[in-house]
Amino acid sequence: MKILANRMDLGFQKHQDEYEEAALRVLRSGWYILGKEMQSFEEEFATYNAMGSDNVVATSFCCTGITKACDSTKVYCAGLASGLDALWIGIRMLGIGQGDEVIVQGNTYIASVMGITMNGATPVFVEPDENSQIDIIEIENNITDKTKAIMVVHLYGQVTDMTRIVDICKRHNLFLIEDCAQAHGAMWKGQKVGTFGDVGCFSFYPTKNMGAFGDAGAVIAHDPKLIDDVKTYRNYGSHKHYYNKVVGANSRLDEMQAALLRVRLKYMDEITNERRMLAARYSKSLNNPRIITPIEVDDSYAVWHQYVIRCKNRDELIDYLNSKDIGSIIHYPVPPHLQEAYAYLGHKVGEYPITEEYANEVLSIPMYNGMTKEEQDYVIDALNSFEA
Ligand SMILES: Cc1ncc(COP(=O)(O)O)c(C=O)c1O
Repeated sequence: MKILANRMDLGFQKHQDEYEEAALRVLRSGWYILGKEMQSFEEEFATYNAMGSDNVVATSFCCTGITKACDSTKVYCAGLASGLDALWIGIRMLGIGQGDEVIVQGNTYIASVMGITMNGATPVFVEPDENSQIDIIEIENNITDKTKAIMVVHLYGQVTDMTRIVDICKRHNLFLIEDCAQAHGAMWKGQKVGTFGDVGCFSFYPTKNMGAFGDAGAVIAHDPKLIDDVKTYRNYGSHKHYYNKVVGANSRLDEMQAALLRVRLKYMDEITNERRMLAARYSKSLNNPRIITPIEVDDSYAVWHQYVIRCKNRDELIDYLNSKDIGSIIHYPVPPHLQEAYAYLGHKVGEYPITEEYANEVLSIPMYNGMTKEEQDYVIDALNSFEA
């Protein structure tokens, strides 16, 4: 049996008629950028994120008190061209730039860090906790008079204690940025990620739980002014045709991706439930003492973008899985502070030992919608029999 680490084709096949209908609708419309599909998607995605568990509006607390409309339970959305754009444009709209520091976990994907540095700000890395999320205790030790924001990355679709994070932001007057690229629909105490902070940034890269069929992203916020600013910025800084307020970017969610995402959004609960069942099955059945399995912390609702195990002999494990035709992926082999791109920050090997240890031990095992019981049993049996 051959098992890939991820399968994007199955999600399409499951609702093929609807995707094809949406694509044809756009093709036949004669309107491909900044149109009705994007507008509808923005409204629908905002509503989706405002809804917590039991489908009631569940924003019991929101943003840090710095941006306006913090008491609002409303959520607004702007569609963009990628998750990276959501991060750097979202951060720029908060006025964060040169000379400012943003605290972020060291084991994140490099795009989180680029969202900070593309604005001229400096990332201040903190170690992850035992669940690969930002170590909350470490946050306060790293706050300086230059700190402007905390970026929480809901890595692998897991969620950490957002009550404590919001409290830190409020006490220190810091913005809260949420990188939700891997966590569409994940919740803390029944409230969706992306709605805790000043800005929530999403990627719809095709492999994501809520994947588009090309590049796409979005920003959500409680502050309608911030979302209006993003909408101006994404279109060359233009608020009105051929009138430009600021020097902006070209980062528009196109009509094709918006229409296809509207279909995907309808099935997000189904997609998440299936992933939660797959993760529960892995957690119940994996029993190899050489392998550490991930957990869902109390009060969180993980969406399992990845099921990431840790193993001291990770590289042998990869070879072993390859020999059984089982794919796997390392998220991520080189942490941002050791990437060539960030040599200018001057970090050294050994500076963030937990981050570096995780980079040597983590492995994402096959996890995709449409995975059969037979396929999962095959992976489980292989992992439980690993002896190196
Ligand atoms: C945690 C995280 N942040 C940001 C991004 C960037 O998203 P995109 O690839 O859509 O630019 C990704 C995904 O690639 C990601 O996993």
